[in-house]
Amino acid sequence: MTQVRRSKQLPFAAAAFAVVVAMVLVILAPAGDLAASPEGSPGARGVGDLYFPELGNGGYAVEHYRLDLTWGADERYLSGVTTIRAVTTQNLSRFNLDLVGMEVEAVTVDRRPAAFERAGRELVITPDQVIEQGQRFVTEVTYHGHPTPIRMGTDLFALGWQTRGREAYVVSEPGGAATFFPVNDHPSDKATFTVRVTAPNDQTVAANGRLARREEVGEGATAWTYEVRDPMASYLLQVAIGDYELVDGGTVEGVVLRHAFHRRWATEGRVATETTAAMIRFLAGVFGPYPFEAYGVLVVDDDLGFALETQTLTVMGRELVVQGRGADITLLHELAHQWFGNSVSVAGWNDIWLNEGFATYAEWIYQERSGGPTAAALAQQAAAEEGLNIPPGDPGRDELFAPSVYLRGGRTLQALRETVGDGAFFEILRTWVSERAGANGSTADFIALAEAISGQRLGDLFQSWLYNPTSP
Ligand code: TRP
Ligand code: ZN
Repeated sequence: MTQVRRSKQLPFAAAAFAVVVAMVLVILAPAGDLAASPEGSPGARGVGDLYFPELGNGGYAVEHYRLDLTWGADERYLSGVTTIRAVTTQNLSRFNLDLVGMEVEAVTVDRRPAAFERAGRELVITPDQVIEQGQRFVTEVTYHGHPTPIRMGTDLFALGWQTRGREAYVVSEPGGAATFFPVNDHPSDKATFTVRVTAPNDQTVAANGRLARREEVGEGATAWTYEVRDPMASYLLQVAIGDYELVDGGTVEGVVLRHAFHRRWATEGRVATETTAAMIRFLAGVFGPYPFEAYGVLVVDDDLGFALETQTLTVMGRELVVQGRGADITLLHELAHQWFGNSVSVAGWNDIWLNEGFATYAEWIYQERSGGPTAAALAQQAAAEEGLNIPPGDPGRDELFAPSVYLRGGRTLQALRETVGDGAFFEILRTWVSERAGANGSTADFIALAEAISGQRLGDLFQSWLYNPTSP
């Protein structure tokens, strides 16, 4: 009997005990753990770029970066805290940022310490719990070091943070941004930025967007805060620290003009940028309103050998600015990138002709409409150049900025114009810019738009101009 009673009572006692234990656990557990934590998986280590599989990362989309950088001009030493607000696109157990060099001190996710490790240009972050799909989260990375430029996509330049004497500035296209901050370094993930830079009082800081604040922070240093309110691809971030004169250029069609000229080249800078307002008016007339709140030119005390269209603040070297008005066409090209490349960005780096072919074609239209040769004649001239057998629609990762991408890319647009006529052609360009402002587009998207607006089948035309090995 006793045996029987016990055998009946024991399960009851055990069940009662389990209920009590469960109640205690419920009371002790933090509310968030009540719902079973979802199964998560790691975000991809790249976004799937055809040329640069290592660029960018999967599992989330960034909304905003806040960079808080301190620059020791004499030691060329950068310390930073980068705060990244992002939204997950999957249940995320782990995710990557891109970072090249630099020493990471600490990482937090939603203010809680997160585990991290380095693997090549990947900073691998494991939060203490899975972040559910569609959830907003904040990552903070504290780091320091001597930023070192890298080679990628072009022999033109080692990419990333540049230091020359006491001056520093940025030239990143395509993958150099990761040399000075942790970033989802691919144009498919555009975001807004706040950039705060603390530098010695004798230095001036220039960056994209608008200067929002300047504060003396003691110990001989000043903090400069710039706000970039329009989405921007990471390769277009500009941070320049040097002996600059900040020059107010007035406004044109509601766009604030402001420049930053290295003091050695301030006179030349003024001459070279005299035509900026007229160029903005011109390109707005052709492509539609200028897409950002500000524009200007940064002149650095260095031989760049090239200009780069960093968003709202094109950077140019001293070797170009000394040409004065001889820099006109290059500056027009960089300005055109604000529409083509910056407002509407490539979906992948294989779409690079959407930047360079279009900016080149803008040069030709500019010359055509200002009493120079027609675009047709300039396209004809370009046909005589060497190297046009590299297909601009697929130049390969080491020929991203080959002359063919510019010239045969431009000739592609001339061929399109001759096929569909001026009316449809300019409507295609304007629609491209207005429909995709602040976003991205691929070559296939462009071809589809051109076909929709013209009502013509254009597959063969684009095939032979963009992809065939030999130039038409
Ligand atoms: N996009 C630049 C142009 O206007 C060319 C360029 C690409 C570049 N990568 C660069 C210039 C790196 C300087 C450094 O055509
Ligand atoms: Zn260009």
